[in-house]
Amino acid sequence: MKASEKLDYKNIYNKWWHRATIYEIYPKSFNTTFKGITAKLDYLVSLGIDALWLCPIFLSPFVDSGYDVADYYKVNPSFGTMEEFESLLMEAHDRGLKVILDMVLNHTSDLHPWFQSAQKDQKSDYRDYYIFGQGKEDQPPNNWISSKTLQSVWTYNDRTEDYYFHAYTKHQPDLNWDNPRLRDALYQVLRFWLEKGVDGFRLDVINKIAKAKGFKDYTPSINNPYADAMYENQPQVHEYLREMNDKVFTQYPDAVTMGQTAGVTYEQACGYCHYNQKALNLYLQFEHMDLDKGCAGAQKPYTTKALLKALLPWQQLAEDGVWPTVFFGSHDAPRMVNHYGANNERYSDKSAKMLFGFQMCLLGTQVVYMGDELGLRNKCFESIEAFEDIRSHDIYEARIASGSRVEEVLQDLNRTARDHARYPMPWDLAETQKNKKNSVLSFYKAMIAYRKESEVLRYGKVESVTTKECDMIVVSRAYKRKKILMIANRSDRVLAYSLEGLCSGDIKDYELVVSNENPLDPGVLSPFEIRIYESTE
Ligand code: GLC
Repeated sequence: MKASEKLDYKNIYNKWWHRATIYEIYPKSFNTTFKGITAKLDYLVSLGIDALWLCPIFLSPFVDSGYDVADYYKVNPSFGTMEEFESLLMEAHDRGLKVILDMVLNHTSDLHPWFQSAQKDQKSDYRDYYIFGQGKEDQPPNNWISSKTLQSVWTYNDRTEDYYFHAYTKHQPDLNWDNPRLRDALYQVLRFWLEKGVDGFRLDVINKIAKAKGFKDYTPSINNPYADAMYENQPQVHEYLREMNDKVFTQYPDAVTMGQTAGVTYEQACGYCHYNQKALNLYLQFEHMDLDKGCAGAQKPYTTKALLKALLPWQQLAEDGVWPTVFFGSHDAPRMVNHYGANNERYSDKSAKMLFGFQMCLLGTQVVYMGDELGLRNKCFESIEAFEDIRSHDIYEARIASGSRVEEVLQDLNRTARDHARYPMPWDLAETQKNKKNSVLSFYKAMIAYRKESEVLRYGKVESVTTKECDMIVVSRAYKRKKILMIANRSDRVLAYSLEGLCSGDIKDYELVVSNENPLDPGVLSPFEIRIYESTE
């Protein structure tokens, strides 16, 4: 037996964030302003969540929805004043809700005074806050193409006759983390907000802060023409994050750091988040979110088995000291129901419940994206003008330029664009669902409340049980004497099953505690049905 097999998760993973359900808010579309969000805090309390994560609220030209910060010390006036933010923070705390800010430390806006100065003058004090490079014969310093913009990561800067680096749009120049002065300036920013009382940060693309040494050309492959790996999860990132933890977070032990770490491997996750190695507290992995990602905004099919393979091994990392975070929706993805659930209106709400029931049966910190609790679906956008997100426009332009048909690109964007998650919350729907026992909202509330009371769901080890049915999902959990068995059907077919074959122990000890179907047929799972059983031996 490995030493780690003796871990009792409740003892080791014992901070507030390990127990938490976090609710992600995209402020502009949630309720527009700090005051608007404050007015909805009671709604969030009634939902049962523990913390809110606010997408960027800082001064920004909003080229990339606030992920382009022009001043880390100011809030965006479109959301209100600093006093109004402070009042939101206080009101949230009064209700027992934590507040996590989305902090963008990989890059700034090109309108940030640091970049404005660096761009003008090679001798600027801020020049080394960014990454500049000399081109070669009218070409950028290397051949790196970003998967996000489908363009070079370099943009020519007339003023100093060289190029600057940006992993995202040219309006988001990357910061140079190799510069200790820059790092200290960013740590200062973190302290400023921690001193205001925020409860931690979601650290945007934090695994991109270190770039491959030497900026050598990338060798593209047919499967991957993009050079993201050259500036993602590079070895030095761990050093920087440990330093950040040491210099900032050791003074704020109850503040959480949740790193966005796309493309991470199991080993790298251990480097970021091992409970013994002080770097980040939580990491967000995207294997399941990217399953259907084709090239340039296209979508490819995937199976339920592939979905489980993209999710379940991460759960086992808890045995090695790395706590997972589970999420199915975000401001960067299409709506959760379209992504993983029913492809039609008929089973839309039922599949929304099934997916959330499944999510909450997984181990880890839980994240809910705003509106998913109402079962919101993707919109249908008729033309490119209807899309707001710069990424949708970048993809559209690059693909049209390389010969794709308009209808084809629009069809892809209608499946994969980030715009689907960013339209305004339909508060009238929330009001209607509030009073309906069978609504998606009621199911979310019940599931969050159930998990809060259930040690086995929070700390139980995870086992997945394989069945012959390719669309059947079975997860079992065990903690002390309690067991949970979850079975779900991720298809619009009826699936036969036998409980005896799935549970360990005596079937008679299992009691049904959650379901999204009425009446129940004992031997079959109806389309998108979920059942959760509990047993105490
Ligand atoms: C992250 C954010 C995304 C943003 C990007 C650049 O992926 O989630 O919305 O566009 O970083 O900051």
